[in-house]
Amino acid sequence: MNQPLVYDPANAAIRANPFPFYEALQEQDPVHWSPAIKSWVITQYDDVRQVVMSPSTMSSDRLRPFYESLKDERRDILSGVMRYLNEWLVFKAPPEHTRLRKMMNGVFSLALVKSREPAIRAAVDHLLASVDPRVEFDFVEKVAVLLPAYVILDMMGLPREDFGTIKKWSDDLRLFIGTSQSDRDKYQKARSGADHMSAYFRDIIAQRRAAPTDDVISAMIAATDASGTLSEDELVAMCMLVLFGGHETTTSLLGSAVTSLLSHPDQLRRLHEEPELIDSAVEEFLRFDGPSNSIARVVAVDHELHGKMLKAGDRVFAMINAANRDPRRFEQPHDLLLDRTPNRHLTFGQGLHFCLGAPLARLETKVCIGTLVARFPAMRQGQGDVKWLDALVMRGPTQLPLVLQ
Ligand code: HEM
Repeated sequence: MNQPLVYDPANAAIRANPFPFYEALQEQDPVHWSPAIKSWVITQYDDVRQVVMSPSTMSSDRLRPFYESLKDERRDILSGVMRYLNEWLVFKAPPEHTRLRKMMNGVFSLALVKSREPAIRAAVDHLLASVDPRVEFDFVEKVAVLLPAYVILDMMGLPREDFGTIKKWSDDLRLFIGTSQSDRDKYQKARSGADHMSAYFRDIIAQRRAAPTDDVISAMIAATDASGTLSEDELVAMCMLVLFGGHETTTSLLGSAVTSLLSHPDQLRRLHEEPELIDSAVEEFLRFDGPSNSIARVVAVDHELHGKMLKAGDRVFAMINAANRDPRRFEQPHDLLLDRTPNRHLTFGQGLHFCLGAPLARLETKVCIGTLVARFPAMRQGQGDVKWLDALVMRGPTQLPLVLQ
């Protein structure tokens, strides 16, 4: 008899290549209870989409129930993290979400994103000029981490030199939000990251109030609606969210776009010969092995799905990367097809929480990967290992040895 399937993201083989396992779940147990993570794991496209975009049955406020269930010292440690995370758009429900999102849509307008293209090109040129194309280097370290960071720091009017410290805080915070499977001190580290980051932004916000500039932080301070402006804690939390959302995920996308091309040399050649495919190629990178491995929700009301009873309070992981390769939705789901249309992947979410930064992430990827392929069509993987993130919610390489020429 076959062993029962158990989804365990700490399993190194699943982390390196989760797709065969996702497919087995879709076929055999599409609403899977994982004892390893004490959560439901949902893998078929239609179910994943439904879970993500149904706030009345599936709540986005997934951290608070966990926090409130804590009885030990972790509750104290995390209070300073929850103070800000409770204000994050992504965990909020209407009507508060509606108010904040409207204000942020005004700040992060399409026109603003478009206006950043020359700066993004300049940053890509600068980063590629910093590596010797004939010598193996780590693409994640030298390009994928720095590009989104520079872009978002520039937009927020923050000095690029501050990146090293901000990155450390952001990594610590990610240990909690990204549900690290192995770091024992993750709560203490997340607290320290939140304390430092919030103090940093309080200071910057005070400076911008005194002397407004044309950056995103000044625009957030100035944003108003019928109910007034953003509160001080909302501003700090929004800065943290934009910075966090603005670089970690895009780093993963840039890295996985390169790994996808390296493992499909025919598609790399094609993109070099037909650069006009870049927009649909970016969508395919997002679908094929995107950064949103899963989106978490908490069951809001008891209901049944594929014969399983989901109880209010249960945790659910809607596996975006599984849905994006569901054969019920995509033809040849495991093939990287750079001209795939339609391509309704779920990588930026769906419904009211649809990613605020999607246009920016798309533009950065288009410019970076477009430039790389135009200049270095013979790029190849180096000798070192490719390593992957230790996280259930996010996916992407953390080390990617590359030789450009
Ligand atoms: C490839 C890069 C990115 C991916 C894959 C990504 C993915 C996502 C996903 C899946 C959600 C929805 C989460 C949910 O439903 O619970 C989301 C929301 C969000 N993202 Fe992104 N994101 C990316 C880049 C960015 C960037 C560059 C920014 C900021 C500049 C950003 C800011 C946000 C914000 C503020 C939200 C919350 C929106 C809301 O709740 O209304 N993201 N993102």
